[in-house]
Amino acid sequence: MDSYDSSHFNTFGLDQPLPSFQKLKGEREQLPVTRNLNDFWDEFTKNDVLIVSGGTGSGKTTQIPQFVAYKAQEMNIRGRIACTQPRRLAAVKVAERVAQEAGCELGAQVGFKIRDDHKISEETQLIYMTDGSMVAQAFNDRNFSEYHTVFIDEAHECNNNIYILMALVRRAVKARVNSRSKLKVIVMSATISVNKFVDYFKDDAQVAQIHMPGITHKVDLLYLGETPRHTSSQPHQQSDPEPNIGHIVEEACRIVAKIVRNQFPTGNILVFMPGVIEVEMACQRIRKSIGEVDVISLYSAQSGAAQNAIFRSSTERRQCIVSTNIAETSITIPDIVYVIDTGIEKVKRLMPRIGAFEVRPRPISKASANQRAGRCGRTRPGVCFRMYTEQDFERNLRDEPDVEIARDDVSAVYLKALAFGFAAATLPFIDLPPFENLAYANELLLDLGYINDQFQVTNAGKRAAQNPFEPNWTYAIDVAKVKYPHLAQHIVAIATICSSMHSIFAAAPARFMASSLASRAEFADPMSDLITELNALYAFETEEPKLPDDRELDQWCNRRFLNRLVMGKILLQRNSAVETMQIRFDEAPVALNSQDRENIRRILARTFFRNIAFRIPSSGGEVRYRTIHGNFEVIASQDSMLNTGGHPWVMYDTLNRARSNTYMTKVTHVEPEWIADLPFFQDDRMKKNYHGNIVQKRVKEALDKAREP
Ligand SMILES: Nc1ncnc2c1ncn2[C@@H]1O[C@H](COP(=O)(O)OP(=O)(O)OP(=O)(O)O)[C@@H](O)[C@H]1O
Ligand SMILES: [Mg+2]
Repeated sequence: MDSYDSSHFNTFGLDQPLPSFQKLKGEREQLPVTRNLNDFWDEFTKNDVLIVSGGTGSGKTTQIPQFVAYKAQEMNIRGRIACTQPRRLAAVKVAERVAQEAGCELGAQVGFKIRDDHKISEETQLIYMTDGSMVAQAFNDRNFSEYHTVFIDEAHECNNNIYILMALVRRAVKARVNSRSKLKVIVMSATISVNKFVDYFKDDAQVAQIHMPGITHKVDLLYLGETPRHTSSQPHQQSDPEPNIGHIVEEACRIVAKIVRNQFPTGNILVFMPGVIEVEMACQRIRKSIGEVDVISLYSAQSGAAQNAIFRSSTERRQCIVSTNIAETSITIPDIVYVIDTGIEKVKRLMPRIGAFEVRPRPISKASANQRAGRCGRTRPGVCFRMYTEQDFERNLRDEPDVEIARDDVSAVYLKALAFGFAAATLPFIDLPPFENLAYANELLLDLGYINDQFQVTNAGKRAAQNPFEPNWTYAIDVAKVKYPHLAQHIVAIATICSSMHSIFAAAPARFMASSLASRAEFADPMSDLITELNALYAFETEEPKLPDDRELDQWCNRRFLNRLVMGKILLQRNSAVETMQIRFDEAPVALNSQDRENIRRILARTFFRNIAFRIPSSGGEVRYRTIHGNFEVIASQDSMLNTGGHPWVMYDTLNRARSNTYMTKVTHVEPEWIADLPFFQDDRMKKNYHGNIVQKRVKEALDKAREP
């Protein structure tokens, strides 16, 4: 501990650090990472890239960047330090904590930056930010010249932003290797496939790995016995059986009751559920049956204020926090002693042949299980209840989460890579997308004109890569800007609605489904679910200033099954997108007239031309459609206003595969005349059979008719 004695904890050399500095100093000195900072520094000075692993809660995220900041200050190194996080909540919370530890105001020496918000000033030396923000910065500064050190934290999450960031920093390290201001990169995680990362960097940089041993407090792992977790009666005979969610929620609630009622020592409880719906289900159940705890939900759609409630416990009562995997990495929630890990997560997957997405609950990875357990044992010893057997953990859980790039739509990350100057033939990702997914992205980007047939990015593609939306939404906005400028702001609003992870219509339990759908009649557009949602959003925007009383606004939303928080966030994001994309914005949009609405549908049809389906004759009551080219049978989702089948040609936002059906979400009626001129609908692109004849004859006839002068 020679070079990091307690006097050096005053990282930024403040004359008068805030009292929190003294208060937290003792705790920091006890952290395992603190004991190993000398070894870390040795490796740091000798290498360009360091891969750091260490136990959860050992102090990686909070201590190591601070230590580097202190050393940099001592050595007069110019520039800043960035430390990236996969989630916004973590970036903000960690920055708050580190500012307290350093004894400065948030936004002074220590700050944060996330999409739509930041607290940074001239003097900021250490910035916690989302990996997405860091990638966005690289468009203006490819070599990250503002920074002397970049930390990529929680690298095991392997999301698309982390992959592209790795590629960017690898290139920047090489570019700056002979300059006076070298770039150092630290890749950190509690559970990391070290070799994979070392291999990735070793040809371009001096790279080493370092493990920082030690744990903060003991965590007891309690595996629960075999429970009937699967809907299938013979779970092990299926390759990936569907977990029985209802049962899992029930079981988790029973464990909460056990902790509370069997007088387990005091301490708060954190329960991990697969998704928001299960979080709400569990919260309702616990509130109803276990009166002794304060129940709090935690997921990304919530407002910052709601999320802050968990960090500022105001009562003496035990808290039970029910969370999605937003709480899985990085954050320290005070006084968590019990973690209940259901062992399930929801994962989105692209099925490129159909162009459909599938969201399925499935078992988590070992890495995620360790992260979940690591949310306790941070400020005192903890207990983690794993709702699976030890054998399940050892034998059946994958080591690492499935990388996003291997399962999701890659068009956005692929376009970014090309826009950053990487070649399509040598994509710089640690793992490559499956060939089919890449082919899917290629075709889409080619159709949108964002790449050419040499797989080079076009100028339009370069601009699109920098936008906050997926490529096809950027395209829709561009079409509007050129042809119907006064409609661009509405397309931005629709794009924001569709890009949100959460629906503006609150999820209604089955028995309220009918009233929930009936309440949408007020906003209904019979031609487009997207315009229906737009109407609802605008109704909320108009109502909000008229109802300053929070409760009244809540009531207004509840009566209409509208999700107030989601709409609030969407409006903020819309405003920021309108600004960054320099869209003409009319503060008080006049009600859309019928021509405007038709033109909006036209823009959507000419953008999402790959998402068009036509009605097919079907027996029975159900109205069925087939996708063009894909020739895949689909139906409109239950909550679509257009599921009565009055429209022969429709366009959808996404296809979701659930059980044996494929559902079109957010359906819009379109006309063949609007799209018949596009290359996608010419004979040479139509699906042919073995003899070379067009399979979808009726589609061709309709298109030919539409093309007649
Ligand atoms: N907000 C907080 N309140 C109380 N203690 C905290 C807080 N944030 C951090 N700590 C303390 O600092 C320790 C180190 O936290 P840090 O986030 O740096 O660990 P880590 O090694 O990055 O963990 P992980 O692998 O889970 O990301 C925690 O174990 C906890 O004791
Ligand atoms: Mg961390």
